[in-house]
Amino acid sequence: MEVYIANDYTELCKIASKNILNVIKSKPNAILGLPTGGTSIGMYKELVKMYKEGILSFSKVTTFNLDEYEGLGKEDANSYYKFMYDNFFKHVDIKYDNINIPDGLASDSNKECEEYEMKIRKAGGMDLVVLGIGENGHIGFNEPSDFFSGFSYRVKLHEDTIRANSRFFNSADEVPKYALTMGIRTIMLSKKIMLLASGENKAKAIKSAIEGVITPSIPASILQLHRDVTVVLDKKSASLL
Ligand code: GLP
Repeated sequence: MEVYIANDYTELCKIASKNILNVIKSKPNAILGLPTGGTSIGMYKELVKMYKEGILSFSKVTTFNLDEYEGLGKEDANSYYKFMYDNFFKHVDIKYDNINIPDGLASDSNKECEEYEMKIRKAGGMDLVVLGIGENGHIGFNEPSDFFSGFSYRVKLHEDTIRANSRFFNSADEVPKYALTMGIRTIMLSKKIMLLASGENKAKAIKSAIEGVITPSIPASILQLHRDVTVVLDKKSASLL
C-alpha cells in the first residue's frame, strides 16, 4: 500500500485527480470504478477542471459506479445517478453509453446486480476503482459483516450508515434501507485501487483499515491484500496512524 498524506482536502483532491489522469493517459479507454459521497466532490471538480483545460478527455473512458440506493431513480435528488450527473458527467465529454450505474428502480435488485457484474466482466474488468470509506469502514456499500462479500449484490444498510448519510436527506427515515453495490470481490479484482478519506471522523476507520487486522468487521481492511493500492488522506483522517 502506498499512503499519501496531503496537507488538506484541496491537496488530497489534486493528488487523487492526478492519479486518475495518469491512468487515462496510459490507457485512454480505461475502465474506471467511481465513488459518490462528499469526499469525492472535490476530486470530480479537479477532473472537470482538467477536462476544461484540455489536459484530459473522457471520450473513450467507461465508468462503473460502486453503488446506488434501492428505490431511487435517476431524477431523485439523492440518487447516486443524480450525484454523478451533477458533479461530473454533465461537465465532461464522456459518452452516455459508457456510463454504468446500478439501476435503483430495477424490479429485481438481485438480478440487476448479477447483470451489473456481467457488464463489468464483459468490459474487461476495472483498471482503477476509486473508493471512499464509511465511518464504520465500509467501502461501496459493503457493510461490516461476519464475512467478506463476493460479487455485486443487494445489501441491507446498517443503522450507522443510514445515520451518517442522513445529512443529505430531510431525515433519517427518508434514507433507503437497501442498496445495490459492487461486492468486495468485484472491488478486489480491479487492477488498481485508490482509497480516499478526509476528516477526523474517518481517522478510526482508516487506522483499522490500514494498520489493523484484516477482518470483515472493517471491510476496507481487505485492501491490505491487494497488490496495487494507493491511499490518499488528509492530515485529519491520518491523525491516528
Ligand atoms: C456512502 C457511499 C460510499 C462512500 C461513503 C463515504 O456511504 N456508499 O461509497 O465511501 O458514503 O461518504 P463521504 O465521502 O460523504 O463521507
